[in-house]
Amino acid sequence: MKTLIVYYSLEGNTRMIAEKLAEKTGADLLEIRSVKKYPAKGPAKFIIGGKDAAFKVCPEIEKTDMNMKAYDAVVFGTPVWDGTIAPPLRSFMRDIIVKNPVVAAYACMAGKDPKKTFDVIKELACVDSLAAEVSFYSPAAGNDPDVDSKIDQLAAILQ
Ligand SMILES: Cc1cc2nc3c(=O)[nH]c(=O)nc-3n(C[C@H](O)[C@H](O)[C@H](O)COP(=O)(O)O)c2cc1C
Repeated sequence: MKTLIVYYSLEGNTRMIAEKLAEKTGADLLEIRSVKKYPAKGPAKFIIGGKDAAFKVCPEIEKTDMNMKAYDAVVFGTPVWDGTIAPPLRSFMRDIIVKNPVVAAYACMAGKDPKKTFDVIKELACVDSLAAEVSFYSPAAGNDPDVDSKIDQLAAILQ
């Protein structure tokens, strides 16, 4: 299945999963980048990013020219920020219409239940359900022992 993985990553976890999934499936990658970079260190990291996530801020993102219609499947990847999707991915999803037959998502997190994050992705994609909802626990730090099986789970729906 021709697949596009659309993701935002501040610290590399979500990018790492996107790249592993692309390697396994041959999917194309689209990394969303905010024009103004979020702080990646210190208390500002949580205060600024967390506030934007909580208030559903849609920051300006770098332009992309990907033709989403060319894909059978799209997988959205996001870190969980304040229990929801990261603002740059919200910006991207706000401005697109998802018509792909298969829509799936994954989230990288350090603790909290990602259910709300997937609910927001469904809402922004205007779909009732996702073909897969997979969460990863701090994978770049090696804290998730099930990374490979979870990647397989995602890859299985993209065949
Ligand atoms: C602004 C901010 C808010 C966060 N909020 C949460 C949260 O609500 N729940 C959680 O489990 N992890 C939270 N985290 C941790 C990230 O979800 C986690 O470290 C994730 O793996 C980062 O992905 P990335 O490396 O792709 O940026 C937060 C991180 C940041 C920077």
